[in-house]
Amino acid sequence: MMPESECNSGCCNEQLPFLRQQLNIPDSIALAWGTLDQLQSPLYPAEEKSIASAVEKRRREYIAGRTAARKVCADCSASNAELVAADDGTVLWPNGVIGSLSHSDRFCMACAGRLTQWSSLGIDVEALGRLSPDLWPLVFSEKETEFFHTRSGAAQDQIATIFFCLKEAFFKLQYMITKTVVDYRKISVELLSETTCGLQLLESGQLFDLVIVGNYLIHEKHVIATCFYPRTDSPESE
Ligand SMILES: CC(C)(COP(=O)(O)OP(=O)(O)OC[C@H]1O[C@@H](n2cnc3c(N)ncnc32)[C@H](O)[C@@H]1OP(=O)(O)O)[C@@H](O)C(=O)NCCC(=O)NCCS
Repeated sequence: MMPESECNSGCCNEQLPFLRQQLNIPDSIALAWGTLDQLQSPLYPAEEKSIASAVEKRRREYIAGRTAARKVCADCSASNAELVAADDGTVLWPNGVIGSLSHSDRFCMACAGRLTQWSSLGIDVEALGRLSPDLWPLVFSEKETEFFHTRSGAAQDQIATIFFCLKEAFFKLQYMITKTVVDYRKISVELLSETTCGLQLLESGQLFDLVIVGNYLIHEKHVIATCFYPRTDSPESE
């Protein structure tokens, strides 16, 4: 079983350098992290409208996501960004910026980078203990399930949550490019070390053929997963 990361700071902002280092996040990607309580800033009217009928739990998560996303957009030279959602639920990021966000019941994380450097980003935050084995057939291949069965108890839950979290991060990254809902069982996770992996869409044809490096961390009884797809061309303008 992988060790849980230790961070002695009680302040989530102070945790940022630690998380950046542990997750190997490049300097050109802005990162925000905090508890839902710490990230409750006012919304723009258009954002407010989209959660007018939401229950309180969803409202807190949404506000935390917008607060964190605004911080990272500001770090990418897009201050005070209004972040409404497209019909498919994805954030309409400001011109020249691409990002990703995730919230659990307790925490929220957002990241963003300039489109001149990054094609797409994917992050996910998952609480440990929420992925019961009855859900495994929906998201894991038989090979992955067999691998989990070589472990037991908390180690089994931990590895299943790590795989799921990485698949969610990769799903988000590829969706921003392909706009396609892909089967999680077709997202392959190959662990490379105790913190990195290779992520790939199997049998995708021309959809999204790249292997993307993912990073993961166990922190505060959660798994955090990140994956970033750098631009390979050199755009003349954004
Ligand atoms: C989109 C999805 C990945 C979100 O994951 P989640 O764990 O439920 O929620 P998270 O907090 O991690 O992420 C939610 C954020 O992702 C973003 N998002 C929503 N849809 C997205 C998409 N298609 N692509 C990228 N990002 C997306 C939004 O910003 C959203 O937050 P917001 O609504 O507050 O703005 C997931 O709900 C989903 O739809 N998966 C595809 C369906 C599927 O095959 N699921 C199989 C598992 S059983």
